[in-house]
Amino acid sequence: MIFGKIRSVFSDDIGIDLGTANTLVYVKGKGIVLNEPSMVAVNNKTNQVVAVGTDAKEMLGRTPGHVRAVQPLIDGVISDFEVTEEMLSYLISKAQTGIKLFGPRIVVGVPSGITGVETRAVRDAAINAGAREVHIVEEPMAAAIGIDLPVHEPRGSMVIDIGGGTTDIGVISLGGIVNSRNIKVAGDRLNSDIVTYIRNEFKILIGDKTAEDAKIAAGSVHNESEGFETIVRGRDLVSGLPREILITEKDVKEAIHHSITKIVDMAKEVLETTPPEVVSDIMKSGIYLVGGGALIRGLSDMLSEMLGGIKVIVADDPLTAVVRGTGKILDDIESYQESLKEHENQLSPTT
Ligand SMILES: Nc1ncnc2c1ncn2[C@@H]1O[C@H](COP(=O)(O)OP(=O)(O)OP(=O)(O)O)[C@@H](O)[C@H]1O
Ligand SMILES: [Mg+2]
Repeated sequence: MIFGKIRSVFSDDIGIDLGTANTLVYVKGKGIVLNEPSMVAVNNKTNQVVAVGTDAKEMLGRTPGHVRAVQPLIDGVISDFEVTEEMLSYLISKAQTGIKLFGPRIVVGVPSGITGVETRAVRDAAINAGAREVHIVEEPMAAAIGIDLPVHEPRGSMVIDIGGGTTDIGVISLGGIVNSRNIKVAGDRLNSDIVTYIRNEFKILIGDKTAEDAKIAAGSVHNESEGFETIVRGRDLVSGLPREILITEKDVKEAIHHSITKIVDMAKEVLETTPPEVVSDIMKSGIYLVGGGALIRGLSDMLSEMLGGIKVIVADDPLTAVVRGTGKILDDIESYQESLKEHENQLSPTT
């Protein structure tokens, strides 16, 4: 107890939402101190990391050819172990103030579908990056804790987290995950759907970032059109010249329809395979939407309609739900033990 207090003087405990699109960092006692794109710029000649996060994203397209951008996570899983480690180590050092004798205790959120090997990779990356203790929590659980759902109670709650790389659905009761599913269909897929649609319909090639901007500006799944539209610029595949066109809400809706259906189907499947008592709790409390995809216009109404009228609620500040959850866990690790992915909290022997 006393030792614990002394240790806390020497290091800041950190919660991390290592997302495919965005990485957020929470420091105990300070709140969310970092919210940056999950991006690392690497010098091709020396293989050294030259920038991380926003700096790396801003460098893109403005540097000579020898700098490449790496997304440490693709489709919700670590695509490049070394780069992930570099990114974690950068985040840890940026989140710490002053010189610390001990590394921090870290709580990291990971997608619910992650394998044992991938969990191990995240743990090792955090340890190698300087963590003293690593706790892993599945994202739907972290999100549920972050938005204050009654996770400890014998009462079912359901969370749908639509991120960049994965959509994670979790049903939680008594501190554990009762049922879950995840698919690699989320925000990034919607962007690529829009790229494909515009290429097929307008014979214009646009970039992923342009597609994402169009999705946010004109995207909606409402039955009734609200008249959103936006201009996109790309390369005319016939003439090879730059061209701009007007994209309507209907275009975006059509482009993303197939992927949205997959997400809806997965939610149905989760409800169908959840014990009836728990479903009855969910019918009372509603289903909570988190992650950037929660902001797609009309999605909560559409889900509600497709799921037999169950209330679907967009959580407050859906993009920070997971990291807020990691913060709450840090405040009281003991009481969340059963909600963590692995109960042991060892100084992992790095091999
Ligand atoms: N207003 C909006 N409308 C639609 N989509 C949005 C909006 N704002 C953000 N997004 C999308 O949300 C996604 C990022 O969400 P989030 O930060 O929750 O993902 P992540 O946690 O990094 O990814 P993952 O959990 O899959 O690893 C991006 O695909 C982004 O385009
Ligand atoms: Mg996420």
